[in-house]
Amino acid sequence: MASLARTLLLAGALPLASLVSAQTLVVDGVEIPANEKTVAPAGEIIDDLVLPEEFQLTDDALANLTALQLSEIELFGFGDESSAKRAASGDCKTYPGDALWPSKLVWKVFNLLTGGALIETVPIGAVCYKTSGHYDAAACENLLATWTDGKTHSDHPTSVMSSLYQGMTCLPQKATDDGICEIGGYPVYTVKATTVSQIQLAINFARTLNLRLVVHNTGHDFLGKSTGYGSLSIWTHNLKTIKYIEKVVTPSYTGKAFKIGAGVQVGELYAAAHKQGLTAIGGECKDVGVTGGYTQGGGHSPLSGVHGLGADQVLSIDVVLPNGRFVTADEKQNKDLFWALRGGGGGTFGVVTSMTVKAHPKTRFAGVTWAASFSANQTELFWQGVEAYWRHFPEYAALGTYGYSTIFSMGEAGSTWTMNPWTVPGYTLDQFKAMSAPLFAQWKAMGFEVNPTYFEHDNFYDTWSNHFPTETVGNFNLHTASRLFPGKNWESEETLNNTIAALKAVGQAGSAIIQYNMNPAKPAGTPDSAANPAWRDAIMFGIFGGMWFDGMTKEEIGAFNNKITHEWMESLRQVTPGGGGYGNEGDVMEPDFAQAFYGSGYDRLLSIKNAVDPWSTFWAPTAVGSEGWYITGQETWLTTQTGKLCRK
Ligand SMILES: Cc1cc2nc3c(=O)[nH]c(=O)nc-3n(C[C@H](O)[C@H](O)[C@H](O)COP(=O)(O)OP(=O)(O)OC[C@H]3O[C@@H](n4cnc5c(N)ncnc54)[C@H](O)[C@@H]3O)c2cc1C
Ligand SMILES: *[C@@H]1O[C@H](CO)[C@@H](O)[C@H](O)[C@H]1NC(C)=O
Ligand SMILES: *[C@@H]1O[C@H](CO)[C@@H](O)[C@H](O)[C@H]1NC(C)=O
Ligand SMILES: *[C@@H]1O[C@H](CO)[C@@H](O)[C@H](O)[C@H]1NC(C)=O
Repeated sequence: MASLARTLLLAGALPLASLVSAQTLVVDGVEIPANEKTVAPAGEIIDDLVLPEEFQLTDDALANLTALQLSEIELFGFGDESSAKRAASGDCKTYPGDALWPSKLVWKVFNLLTGGALIETVPIGAVCYKTSGHYDAAACENLLATWTDGKTHSDHPTSVMSSLYQGMTCLPQKATDDGICEIGGYPVYTVKATTVSQIQLAINFARTLNLRLVVHNTGHDFLGKSTGYGSLSIWTHNLKTIKYIEKVVTPSYTGKAFKIGAGVQVGELYAAAHKQGLTAIGGECKDVGVTGGYTQGGGHSPLSGVHGLGADQVLSIDVVLPNGRFVTADEKQNKDLFWALRGGGGGTFGVVTSMTVKAHPKTRFAGVTWAASFSANQTELFWQGVEAYWRHFPEYAALGTYGYSTIFSMGEAGSTWTMNPWTVPGYTLDQFKAMSAPLFAQWKAMGFEVNPTYFEHDNFYDTWSNHFPTETVGNFNLHTASRLFPGKNWESEETLNNTIAALKAVGQAGSAIIQYNMNPAKPAGTPDSAANPAWRDAIMFGIFGGMWFDGMTKEEIGAFNNKITHEWMESLRQVTPGGGGYGNEGDVMEPDFAQAFYGSGYDRLLSIKNAVDPWSTFWAPTAVGSEGWYITGQETWLTTQTGKLCRK
């Protein structure tokens, strides 16, 4: 805190023009470069002793700058009731080219105040375009070779894994190709955040100037929630602190925990927990951010059958609110926020800077994987085999199972079933085999075979590193949607038959089915959260959808997208009335997203959103409160982030 105030004072001691043009500071008569070490130090978190929250923006620091007559400083002040009233006017956010868009000089002041953390966007694909000014043949080759790795994108300040929502205006291309790289739906500027104060400055700046603000962590989002045309983005990826806490006591929990920065990724948390001989909760993909979209959106995990959702692990949350204030939300303070931030969706209520999450004891695992193919003349047998498996779901879910597999039936090209994996936390291999034996016996009797590979480990980390797939990303012609299937659908033969018939019909029509057999019930004693209530009695989670191909006309692509949202998904909505889908892996076109992704919690979420963000500083597609706004220039069948954000 002291350092930021000190350095702001140093900055203010110079005439604005020389400060901005020279990008230097004069300290004791010596000119030094203005960068994140000199202006807002703690760019790097060297050890646990220096935490991002040690650098906060305060009223005192701002008052000192005002006293020094830095007129732009009001742009960085905190929000209050009177600014909320002013914010109600104005139809669209402020964009490049608008009269009120900040000048280059103001961006430079902002950059200096953040300690040189402002990055002007260069699209990741620019290295592949000769006219981009960033052409680099070797870097382009490398990008093409690593495009489907999550890390390629999560290490980049603005790249998103689903380029579809960015407008695909600068996809990497073979270096010999022509073409123009445009910024499209990428932000204009990004703040590479390593301190709380930088996040506060960015939020205050965006709110005051009515800029489109985006929060970007890894760029995994499937709905375009972490990008936006003409925006200022806050990049949380470098907030990497992981702190082990031997004993945390809250009203509902006493035990071990980790305090993790907003940039910590699933694989990093898993490794830290393994090192302590413990188990932590995250998704199956190693690059997803733990505290970002994953936990804030609910978060399912291989241990969900035992420990519930990612949101159920959270003990405390540090967050910068839309008014710029830094607060902690837990069971005792800011309780509404604590409820909302656990499942109510990312990019909505503020920027989370860290979370304290439960650490569980070491857990053994046993399970199976397979990769089975069936030729076209076995399609009927394929569906019989899948159906036999589906019928067992309640019994496996009750044991805490996590069965994650993908089935894909491609007509003449046959069918595939990849099990990746099916496992039960706490089980020995003998127990696992005893559980699955009746199904394998049924399959044997019908002549259905999958060639299982069994495994057994005494800890989660080895299970996860060895038997989970390396997820590939970077598709730009893929539209997915999801649905949660409640256990009650299995209770009567009639509803079960209808459910199976609907699933089968969608699969036979060409949808991939990525399915999870698990029940993420809320563990006893866990405080209530905003996570979609539809998760709690679900025993199956399914992701559906498909890809289109080069050469399809716009009309054909539109018809395909409409088929996913309005035909395939409608038949699944009909067999799960009043149910929902998972917003983090949902359809950006979900017809009633509020009901589907948030369920009965929506009204409370909306009132919390309106209370903490009367300015609508935060907005993301399908986020709470997003229905009051639209993106200009969109097709009826897909909302991307390539246009202006305007009030309806
Ligand atoms: C390959 C792959 C595998 C996946 N596996 C799983 C899985 O096993 N289980 C599961 O539940 N989900 C899974 N997901 C979905 C994943 O949970 C979502 O994509 C999630 O939104 C990713 O969050 P992120 O922060 O990493 O990504 P981003 O795209 O960077 O952000 C996602 C959203 O969160 C917001 N956000 C990010 N950080 C913050 C912050 N600090 N404060 C406030 N808002 C923030 C962003 O604004 C955006 O709205 C998977 C996705 C992919 C692509
Ligand atoms: C503001 O300026 C005064 C006078 O120079 C100084 O004593 C004080 O520490 C400053 N406050 C902050 C928060 O930097
Ligand atoms: C099914 O098709 C495969 C190859 O597509 C062929 O080898 C096999 O003989 C066929 N089986 C029957 C029973 O027709
Ligand atoms: C449900 O499906 C099974 C298997 O196809 C069938 O035997 C049974 O008669 C069906 N029951 C009802 C109530 O439709």
